[in-house]
This record gives sequence, structure tokens and C-alpha cells, in this order.
Amino acid sequence: MKWFKQTVFYEIYIKSFADGNGDGIGDFPGLTERLDYLAELGIGGIWLTPFYPSMQVDNGYDVSDYCAVDPLYGTLADFKVFLAEAKKREIRVVIDMVLNHTAINHRWFTEHPDYYIWKERPNNWTSFFGGSAFQFDEKREQYYYHSFAKEQADLNWANPAVKEEIKQVLKFWLALGVDGFRFDVINNLTLDLAFPDNPVDELGEVLHKFDKDQPGIDGVMAELAAFCRDLRPDVFLVGEISSDELPEIARYSRPELLDVTFNFNFGSIETFTPEKLFQELVAMEKALPDGQMPTLFFGSHDMGRSFSRLAGQNLPLAELLAFIILTARGVPFIYNGEEAGMTDLTFADVSEMADIQGIMAYEQAVGKGETKQEALFAANQKTRDKARGPMIFADGKAFSATGKAWLKQNQEPEEKVHAIFAYYQELLAFRKAAAYVTEPYTSLQLKEACLTYQRGNYYFVANFSERWQMTAPPNGRLVFGQEEQGGIAPLSGAIYLMEEENENCK
Ligand code: GLC
Ligand code: CA
Repeated sequence: MKWFKQTVFYEIYIKSFADGNGDGIGDFPGLTERLDYLAELGIGGIWLTPFYPSMQVDNGYDVSDYCAVDPLYGTLADFKVFLAEAKKREIRVVIDMVLNHTAINHRWFTEHPDYYIWKERPNNWTSFFGGSAFQFDEKREQYYYHSFAKEQADLNWANPAVKEEIKQVLKFWLALGVDGFRFDVINNLTLDLAFPDNPVDELGEVLHKFDKDQPGIDGVMAELAAFCRDLRPDVFLVGEISSDELPEIARYSRPELLDVTFNFNFGSIETFTPEKLFQELVAMEKALPDGQMPTLFFGSHDMGRSFSRLAGQNLPLAELLAFIILTARGVPFIYNGEEAGMTDLTFADVSEMADIQGIMAYEQAVGKGETKQEALFAANQKTRDKARGPMIFADGKAFSATGKAWLKQNQEPEEKVHAIFAYYQELLAFRKAAAYVTEPYTSLQLKEACLTYQRGNYYFVANFSERWQMTAPPNGRLVFGQEEQGGIAPLSGAIYLMEEENENCK
């Protein structure tokens, strides 16, 4: 059994997690100090966002050197201490690999321009952050391609030398002992090199057709995966596929490609209904090849916080969402702060924002003649800063001892923080002890806003309605949650252990 199948992952946005030296920016010494907190919470793996030297235009997703640590976060020695301390606590570490592009101050950009993509003339392709995906280079008198910010130049994966360079990078980190990689926008690596214009929809929006999922992508992915697995057979590979379309996401989750891919079809939904959730759970079971697991999450550094976005700041509903990701079939990812019920940040002025996506939304709105207020509204919608605020810890310790913070900080009511942390902790402990984690569904149903499923001998009820529900199984013994005479409390989850002799009774 591959270890990741039993692991609950926890995404750490390093800049906002724990500041050890008091400069207001999260760092490795701070993070290492917080490993006990994570062990107490009960997670088994960390996905760490990029910590490499960077221009910080896209907060580390613009890498200037793949084999070093940005001085903002400490040193490579600090990283090694962190890794060793995580291992002591049986916490695995998965690091982010941004292989689609580098920062333009990466030495490759000047020393090996053929590692990048150059064109005499731009076509209509747009950057995922908005605007043209081509930037003119004065020296070369050509345009380079950037699918994100203009400081993030796309690597040319058609050049075999790029693949070889990146393999050395993967080898470097595997040799240090990391347990896996999160591959950033990994389906974007290959392009249609004839550069046909992308189609445009009715609203005038340029669609991403020829700039992702292009022929050859499976081969590249398989080669990178095989390279990693040769060096470390139990390496965990999770892919970010830049899409929320399930078929596109599911197709890269295959034994010879990636262990799992992020299911944005489920995790990044904008509004929550039990029906939508149920449909996506069913759809993932159908879409994924046999034996492949979906990923289960409702938050990340790229979307609004689930406590605001989906739970409407309602504590029982937030707990119920946690219940789903920790009990449904899949590999859960908790985003740091979810276990404290952290809410979205809102910004009173664009100058308070750091995320390029929010700032670009502001500039584009102003450019279209919108008022400052309208532009600020658009920027607040788009900015990913809303979910990137400094961490709130349930033990009351601050993100930074000096009180400084690189981004605005929210205050959250202490009782809420404690309540939701305790819930995560209890459920994580239960999950670890119970034998359902790798079991398939033998039933999966939605009735009157009550989602029920059976896995192995465990029967789960997620009551999304506002009233007590009589959906307890007749032969089950309550092992988690609240029940009254066979009824399950409104907006709550319950788990039953089915008695042996009734195993076949569903
Ligand atoms: C991924 C990251 C996001 C980043 C983008 C470009 O989507 O999660 O934060 O901006 O890739 O690297
Ligand atoms: Ca710091």
C-alpha cells in the first residue's frame, strides 16, 4: 500500500505560516518550531509552497534558482533541519515544483535562451493572469512566451536539455530526502508550436486551447514520473492541472503518470450545495481509472477561504466540510488556517495587496475607465491574498513574535478557533485509528440533504439539513458525532460502525 493513500496532507503557505526571526515573513526556523502544532493536529504530510530564491512577483512561483532556499525563508541548512524534524514526527514533506516557467532572472534566461520560447510576432494567446502572453525582449528583438506574469518565462519543453536540467533538480531534492513533489500547472508544459490563434468565446475571452494539454504531455509527464520513481519508488507525485474540468483532471491520474491530481471540479466550487458535492463525488468515482484516488480539499492559496466562500462563516457547516474531506474516499488536503476557521481578508486599498492577480485586475479595470471603487471591488474579487493572510494558531501563539506581518492580518474569535481546531483534531485522530481510509464505497447516496456512504464496516452520515435526520442505520453503533434516538443533529456528521453479522446489509 502506497503511504500517500492513508495520509492527510496539509498545505503550508510558507510566507504566512510562522515567522521565526521577527521580520514579518514566515520562514523555516518558524515552521520548524510549529511542527509540534502540526503533530498535535494530526496531519501526516506537508505540501510546502515554493521557498526557492525568487523575484517574488508571484510569491515564489517565479523561481530564480531551483536548488536553493530564498534568504527570506532561511538557508538550505534550515531546510534540512526542518525536514529532519518533520521526519522525527512522522510527517512527510512534499515540495512544490514549478517546472512550466522560471523567473526571468534565473541564470538560464541569459545563459541558455534556447531553454525558452521565442517568437518574431505574438499571436492572440493570453496569460492566465490577463493580457498578452508575449513580452518583447529588447536585446534579442524577439518576444518570449509567458503563460503567467511577464517575469515568469515559460520553459521550452520541446528542448531535451530542459528535461535534463529539471531531472537534476528533482534528483537534488530527492537526495535530500523529500517525500514527493507537487507539480505546478503541469499540463501546461507542452504547447502547439505552430502557435495557431486560440479560439475566442462570445464574451471576447480568449480560451486556452493550444497552450495546454498538447500532444506529448503524457510522454513528458511519464518520463519525469519514471525518473523520480527510479530514484525513490515510494515518491508521491501530485499534479496541479490547470482546469476545473473533471475529464481533463482525471486523465493524468494514472499509475504511470501522477499518483493524484487536484480535483478543482470539487475543491474550487464557488457556492456550496449538497447536490453539487454529491454529484462531484459520484463523478470522480466514475472518471478515475480503477485504484486511483481523487483529492479532497476546499481551499488553497489560490482560492477564497472555504470558511467564507463555502461555509458562509457558519461553524457547523465548516466542520461538516471537514468531515467530508476526512471521511470520503480520497486524499485530503487541508489548507493552513482552515483548522482555525480563518476567513477571507478584504482590502481597503490596492496598495495593501500583494498578489499580482489582484493588482492586475485593478489595473485592467482602471484601464477600462472604471472608477477606483469599482476597480477595488474587482481586485478584491480576484486577489488570492484573501486566503494568504498570516496564520492564526489555536494555541494562541502569534504568526510573528514582533507583531509585524507582510500582509494584513485578520482577527478571529478565539472560541471559534478552538472549536474548529478541536473538531479537526478529533476527526483526524479517529481517522488514523479507523480502518476505512482505503476502503471503496459500497454505497453513496444523497437524500433530503443527507449524504450517506458506507466504506468497509463504517457508515457515514453528513446531515446538511437544518433539522435532525433519522438516517442512522439500524445495525450501527455510533462511534463519532451526535445522535438522539437514531436522529443525527442538524449540520453535523456522524459515523457508525456496522455490526459484523450485518455487514451485507446496506
Ligand atoms: C499555480 C500556483 C499559483 C501560481 C501559478 C503560476 O496555479 O498554485 O499560485 O500563480 O501556478 O505558477
Ligand atoms: Ca521571517
